[in-house]
Amino acid sequence: GNDMITIEDGFLKIDGYSAEELAEKYGTPLYVMSENQIVRNYRAYEDAFKEYKKKTGKDFILCYAYKANSNLAITRLLSKLGSGADVVSGGELYIARLSKVPPEKIVFNGNCKTEEEIVMGIENNIRAFNVDSISELILIDKIAGEMGSEANVAFRINPDVDPKTHPKISTGLKRSKFGLDVQSGMAMKAIKMALDMDNVNVVGLHCHIGSQLTDLSPFVEETRKVMDFVMELEKEGIKIEDINLGGGLGIPYHKDKDVPDPYQLAEVIINTVMEYEDKVDLPNLLLEPGRSIVGTAGVLLGKVYHIKETPYGKWIMIDAGMNDMMRPAIYDAYHEIVPCILREEKEVVNIAGGLCESSDVFGRDRYIPKVEVGDIVAILDVGAYGISMANNYNGRGRPRVVLTNDKGVFVIRERETYGDLIAKDIVPRHLL
Ligand code: LLP
Repeated sequence: GNDMITIEDGFLKIDGYSAEELAEKYGTPLYVMSENQIVRNYRAYEDAFKEYKKKTGKDFILCYAYKANSNLAITRLLSKLGSGADVVSGGELYIARLSKVPPEKIVFNGNCKTEEEIVMGIENNIRAFNVDSISELILIDKIAGEMGSEANVAFRINPDVDPKTHPKISTGLKRSKFGLDVQSGMAMKAIKMALDMDNVNVVGLHCHIGSQLTDLSPFVEETRKVMDFVMELEKEGIKIEDINLGGGLGIPYHKDKDVPDPYQLAEVIINTVMEYEDKVDLPNLLLEPGRSIVGTAGVLLGKVYHIKETPYGKWIMIDAGMNDMMRPAIYDAYHEIVPCILREEKEVVNIAGGLCESSDVFGRDRYIPKVEVGDIVAILDVGAYGISMANNYNGRGRPRVVLTNDKGVFVIRERETYGDLIAKDIVPRHLL
C-alpha cells in the first residue's frame, strides 16, 4: 500500500507534508509523487528477485515500464536506483537515454514500431526489440543491414492466458492484437526466419498478459507457457538467453482487498521456472512492472469549488478533472478519495471534475468525511497512468507535479499555461 499517506490530528499528510499546505503553496490541481514510496516499491522487487539470481545463477533485470509515468525526474530516480527501461516509442527511448539508463537494460515494446524508432533502437544498441509480428522482424533486419549493424530481437508471444483483469487492459488472449501465436506455429516460424537473417540476433522471448492483475495464477500459467516454449526451442537447437514476463502486478486500489506483493510474485515465478531446472538451460529473467512501481506513490489534489445538492445526491465539484486523470472515466477505475481535513461528520457524496463530460466523475456514492467549499481532496494511487495519460481536453493545461522526500518538496513538472495549449497550432494566412 501507500505508506507515505498518514493522518495526523485529522489532517492528511504525504511523506510528512500537510496536503493542504502543499495545495496552498503549489496550487491545484496538483500531483504529489513520493520519492520515498517509489524507492520502497522498487527495492521490494530487487530484494524479492535476488532469489532468482541465487537459485538460477542467471541475471534478473527490472525494466520499469515508462508508460506508467515517464516524468524525467521519476525516470532519472529509477535509473539511479539501477532500473532498466521498457519503452514503447522513440519518445520514451529518448527519455530513457536522457535518464542515463544503460542500453543493455532497455527493451523496446509495441506492435507498430516505425522505421525511425527502429533506427534509434539500433543506434542505441538496446538489449532487445520485443518483436510483435513477422512484418516487423523483416523491417528490423532490413534496417540493421542498411546501417551495417545488428539488432537484438526477442519475440513477444501470445500465450492465450486469461489475466482475469479489466478487458481493456488484458493483452494476452488469443484475439488480442499483441504477440505471435504459439499454438499455430507462428512464433516458431518467426524465430526460425530470424535465425536465417543476417542482421538480427535472437536473444529472447517476451510475454505480457495484462495489467492490474490481482491473482497470481495467470502469472504461473504465463511462466509455464513461456518455459514450455523455451524447452521446445531448445529441442530444435535454439537457445533462449532471456525471458521477459512483462509487467502487470496490481496494486490495492481498494484498501479492503489484498493484492499480492512483489515477494509473492517472485515466489511463484521462481518456483515455476525452477520446475524446468533439469530440462533446459535456465534463462535470464526480465520484468517490466509499471503500475506496481509508481502507482501507490502518487496523489492528485483538487480543490472543492462548488457543492450542489440535488434530490438524487450531493455533488462535490473539484478543480481536478478527467483530463488530469482519465482512469475513472475510461476504465470505471476505482480510486480512493480522501478529504485533506478529516472532519468527524461523514456523508455520502459524488466527487466530480469540471469538464463538460458526464464521465468526468472521480467517485460515486462515497461515504467520506464532510467537505466544505475551499477544502482540498486527495485522489489516491494515481502515480501510474495518471500524469502520463493527462491531456488538454476542454482547454485545460496539464497540472503541476511535485516530488516529496525527507529533504523537501521539488517541482518536477510545471503547470501548463494557456500559451502551451496553442503552442503547436498554426492559423493559415487567409484566416489572419
Ligand atoms: N509491458 C508491456 C508490454 C505493457 O503493455 C505494459 C502495460 C507493461 C509492461 C506495464 O504493465 P503494468 O506493470 O503497469 O501493469 N492505462 C491502463 C494500463 C495500460 C497498461 C498497458 N500496458 C490503466 O490506467 O490501467
